[in-house]
Amino acid sequence: MKQLELTPRLLAAAQLVPPGAAVADIGTDHAYLPVWLLKQGRVRYAIAADLRSGPLERARQTAREHDCTQNIDFRLCDGLSAIRTDEVDTIVIAGMGGETIAAILQAAAWTRDGRYTLILQPMSAQNDLRHWLWKNGYGVREERIVCEGDKLYNIMLAGFGGAVPMTLGEEWAGRQTPDLDQPLRGEFLARLLYKTTRAIDGISRGKDGGDRERLAELTRLQEELSQMKKEWAQWQP
Ligand SMILES: C[S@@+](CC[C@H](N)C(=O)[O-])C[C@H]1O[C@@H](n2cnc3c(N)ncnc32)[C@H](O)[C@@H]1O
Repeated sequence: MKQLELTPRLLAAAQLVPPGAAVADIGTDHAYLPVWLLKQGRVRYAIAADLRSGPLERARQTAREHDCTQNIDFRLCDGLSAIRTDEVDTIVIAGMGGETIAAILQAAAWTRDGRYTLILQPMSAQNDLRHWLWKNGYGVREERIVCEGDKLYNIMLAGFGGAVPMTLGEEWAGRQTPDLDQPLRGEFLARLLYKTTRAIDGISRGKDGGDRERLAELTRLQEELSQMKKEWAQWQP
């Protein structure tokens, strides 16, 4: 049988899935994640769902190639629209923009229930996703940062309940506490701060000093990130 190895980003998401779960992977594409979970015996049931038929056909092919067609279903649907509330207890939405992930959850009010585990991996706009989560009552319980190629990715373990308001810096970088096990956090904060500083420079060089409101927000973000980076460095042994 073919080997299936997940890249660090998908592996980190898969490792957050509770053992014995019934999982829906939304935007599954090749279905690498659910097929890997089933092959590992980590989940009892999986739904591989995608908006488009091409990716869903690839998903079916992966399952066939890995002789893994028993406990998996395939759904052609937008977000969670064809997932019944009693079919799964865990939802993975990975590899999409943060705004799309938030829109998918917004359209599925049934996820506002503490019994569902959400594993979310935004490719962009992670600040918008964190903002939407806390504003809508979802708490981020754990975050992992992994490196794949030269990029860093954040993977969030979330669920309904325990939402805590976030500062601007926290919406961009996630909450930090001294006990956090995130070896790549220092690097992540440094990169975010660098990007923010470049954005400020770009706007400041614009006509009439650029968009003042945007500049003020970015300057506040720069200050908060800088403080978070210092705080994080102090906490390290
Ligand atoms: C970049 S792939 C990510 C694949 C995999 N989840 C990963 O993280 O590697 C994004 C997939 O999400 C699907 N997609 C985009 N919007 C979606 C939506 N609203 N509902 C379901 N699937 C969606 C796309 O068709 C595509 O197959």
